[in-house]
Amino acid sequence: MDDRPNLREFLNEVSSFQEDEAAATPAKAAGPAPSAIGTVVEIAGSGSQIRLDASVVAAMQSHADHSVAMSGQVGSQIKTVVGNSWLIANVRTLRAGEPGELVAYVDFLGEGTRDSAGKMSNFRRGVTRYPIPGAEVLPVSTDDMRAIFAASDDPHIEIGTVYPTDDIRGTLYVDSMLGKHFAVLGSTGTGKSTAVSLILHRISELSPEGHIVMIDPHGEYSAAFKGCGELFNVDNLQLPYWLMNFEEHCEVLLTTQDAERQRDADILAKCLLGARIKGKDMSQYGKVTVDSPIPYLLTDLNAIIVNEMGKLDRAGDTLPFQRIKTKLDELRVDPRYTFMFSGMLVSDSMGSFVAKLFRLPSQGRPISIVDVSGVPSEVTSVVVSVLARMVFDYAIWSRTEAQRPLLLVCEEAHRYVPKDETAGGQAVRKILERIAKEGRKYGVSLGLITQRPSDLAEGVLSQCGTIISMRLNNDRDQACVRAAMPEGARGFLDAIPALRNRECIVCGEGVAIPIRVRFDDLEPEKRPASSDPSFARLWRETGDEAGIISRTIKRWRGHGR
Ligand SMILES: Nc1ncnc2c1ncn2[C@@H]1O[C@H](COP(=O)(O)OP(=O)(O)OP(=O)(O)O)[C@@H](O)[C@H]1O
Ligand SMILES: [Mg+2]
Repeated sequence: MDDRPNLREFLNEVSSFQEDEAAATPAKAAGPAPSAIGTVVEIAGSGSQIRLDASVVAAMQSHADHSVAMSGQVGSQIKTVVGNSWLIANVRTLRAGEPGELVAYVDFLGEGTRDSAGKMSNFRRGVTRYPIPGAEVLPVSTDDMRAIFAASDDPHIEIGTVYPTDDIRGTLYVDSMLGKHFAVLGSTGTGKSTAVSLILHRISELSPEGHIVMIDPHGEYSAAFKGCGELFNVDNLQLPYWLMNFEEHCEVLLTTQDAERQRDADILAKCLLGARIKGKDMSQYGKVTVDSPIPYLLTDLNAIIVNEMGKLDRAGDTLPFQRIKTKLDELRVDPRYTFMFSGMLVSDSMGSFVAKLFRLPSQGRPISIVDVSGVPSEVTSVVVSVLARMVFDYAIWSRTEAQRPLLLVCEEAHRYVPKDETAGGQAVRKILERIAKEGRKYGVSLGLITQRPSDLAEGVLSQCGTIISMRLNNDRDQACVRAAMPEGARGFLDAIPALRNRECIVCGEGVAIPIRVRFDDLEPEKRPASSDPSFARLWRETGDEAGIISRTIKRWRGHGR
């Protein structure tokens, strides 16, 4: 509550004006069943209005039940009766009205059944009947909260504790959350990676036969999933170059721009197709295109380029061929590219690659962590593009088979789906945008994690059905989240810049109603390797500096790990 000092000050002021009255009604504040705090004024599409009694709200602040004490504040819930139902609404805005009165805009979230004793049960989202102006508004108690959050039978995971209670569990409904993608947002150090580890660990416990691929640009997650994940990095990924489609080949092999690039691309297309079909039994493959993931030999591609070049008589025309050939030679000899462009990767390993990456079968390790931190930065986006496209294409081409839904989680998503459409790495951007738009139909779910939502391409965030927002300090980022959040969650927006570390707002498909949650403490062995260094402690330690330096330089020079 200390994150909204203005409101507090205001309420304190109001209560001091009304001291006599408040003192005269102490029973109200301490009593077990709080009475009305106001009335409904207007029901309208754009937002319904209620009027609250400022002195009652102020007195309520010292109520023993935290939920009741919060009631009436922005982001809190209130309830009102319609027939045999309780309607629950969220307070979106609050302002002073007539003396002694507060006027609030509220969003109705859902309704629950009201029994003869006034208890709520069977809460569901959506409202069938609205209250009539004049109806009483009551605070929501912890018991009501319990009824709202009583986990239904739908598969769910628990992630933390619902604010302001200390015992109600915040749950995420797995099917609804993954069905329509999710995003985890928050400024640096607010606990995103730890939150994602926690969520993925809980999902893996719920679904040990799951299929999750996590792209990890900083190599943080291997530490968190040692026990229950398959770990890949440049040493064991063995991503065959021939899995790249034509666009990805262009991003790796072409070095020119504009008209020249177009010309180089035409030449590459012709030579690549030649290499793909060379020596193949066409009856086995059917129609082969430059995009088909069919193994070919880099030496064949090289030979075809040289051969085509030989057919030309004027020396000047050979330049594009030479450019492609030079780049190809570079990749083949550069040890940093061995994970992708090695002579060892020529055999048709597509089946085993798909099986190990997508955990088919999962063998008790439902999650693949692909640590791309060792990938040369020039090709990181292509590597991510190939992996994301494999996920999507697998889902498309396996439609007639038993369905195996896949979840692709992408850290630092703003790097791969940036707002800037002119930057390099368009292949990865296209495939991730496509998964965001169409993935649901094919059973592919996307989890995007970013500290800079305002740098994400427009529209991607609004495709995410569930938004988990941790603290965001920057105005532009807050505005982006505001635009992507569903109506009913607007009351929580003010809390976003004021959240503590490890606290978040969750709204959308994955939760019964928008909630503010404090994430559980995650066991140290399940945390990503991203902990904040303790300068004070580490700067007191010393010893083995020579060894540290020589080992570091060895790895540095040898690009070893
Ligand atoms: N639920 C949690 N349980 C235990 N520790 C946590 C939890 N959440 C965050 N932390 C701690 O907070 C620190 C920062 O967390 P984390 O690395 O997840 O932040 P981040 O938002 O991913 O940061 P960045 O944007 O820099 O990647 C870490 O030291 C982590 O151990
Ligand atoms: Mg992180």
